Amino acid sequence: MRCLLKRQTLLAVLLGLALFLLPSLYPTDASIMTLSALAALNGIRMGTAVSFPALQQDERYRDVLAREFRQLTPENEMKFSRLHPEPERYDFDKADTLVNFADTHGIMVRGHTLVWHSQIPDWVKAARSRDAAIALLRNHIQTVVGHYRGQVMAWDVVNEAIADSGRLRDTVWLRQIGPDYIGMAFRWAHAADPNARLFYNDYGGEGLGRKSEAIYRLVSSLVEKDIPIDGVGLQMHLSLQNAPDASDVATNLQRLGELGLETHITEMDVRLALPASEQDRLAQADLFRTMLSTCIAADSCSNFTTWGFTDRYSWIPHRYKDFGAALLFDRDYQPKMAYAAMLEALDPET
Ligand code: G3I
Repeated sequence: MRCLLKRQTLLAVLLGLALFLLPSLYPTDASIMTLSALAALNGIRMGTAVSFPALQQDERYRDVLAREFRQLTPENEMKFSRLHPEPERYDFDKADTLVNFADTHGIMVRGHTLVWHSQIPDWVKAARSRDAAIALLRNHIQTVVGHYRGQVMAWDVVNEAIADSGRLRDTVWLRQIGPDYIGMAFRWAHAADPNARLFYNDYGGEGLGRKSEAIYRLVSSLVEKDIPIDGVGLQMHLSLQNAPDASDVATNLQRLGELGLETHITEMDVRLALPASEQDRLAQADLFRTMLSTCIAADSCSNFTTWGFTDRYSWIPHRYKDFGAALLFDRDYQPKMAYAAMLEALDPET
């Protein structure tokens, strides 16, 4: 009898212990642990670029996207050549599919991008006069922003207009219209959807230096001229060799905020030489943690977006030979150290 009691007591203790430990090992409320849910507690919206083919064909891709992110940026489907391949023809089918997916899953959409020197069709380059170029760009912006009025919460209105030298980039828009094309684009976008947040977006200007000075000067002048710009997107495509200093990024986010502008991290990834070493993966995780913490700490920074989320569909290997492994999930959707580091930045208790 005593032996039976003892065994029952032991079982009860073990059961109690298991019930106590289980929730921490396997959280029953998975939403608490997602990037987005934790980010929201920090006042940050967590986003990712989305590949249309991946969304179409890969169920696991859709699941992880809907679970972890509350904002998406179409990686290619809203670019000029995709939406407006011929002067009189717009093609919204794929972009609409992305927007509908977002809507169904309570995900916001960041529109990317209205004015860029890349991925524009040849017919645009053939505009015969400044007036013709102005008319076609105005028509494009009014039609696209109008089509998504109320559905796209923020637009990258002008993308990468500044060269690494700090001067305005020599683009078809600059040559055809002159520097005023930037202000015009913001005004047309604002007229087409007064509630959309309008951004200037660029790479290589995250910290301090020639390019970030030039971006600061450009957006300051837009603000001064009362041009309807709401914020600056810092892309944050990094390698371990070119990462900006976190304190420089903090200073930059602060000075942009002091202009009354919002800041978003819009395209972060950290490419690694393949095969990626343990040391590099640790350094990568550290960069994701540091940049996210810097955004959280900055009053102006409200949005943190990575350029894709799984290494399965990243643009990096197509562009940089022998580089990859740049994102938060591996090719099989397993969270990497970088993912854990992001959770740590969002919840230092983890
Ligand atoms: O869709 C065609 C396909 O039909 C064709 O068979 C194939 C052959 O190469 O090309 C496909 O298009 C490619 C497209 O990605 C979709 O995969 C283009 O050639 C390729 O140039 C394009 O690259 C994109 C790049 O922008 C240039 O537009 C990348 O996916 C995209 O990640 C990248 O994103 C940019 C941001 O928009 C701005 N900031 C930098 C960032 C990285 O470069």
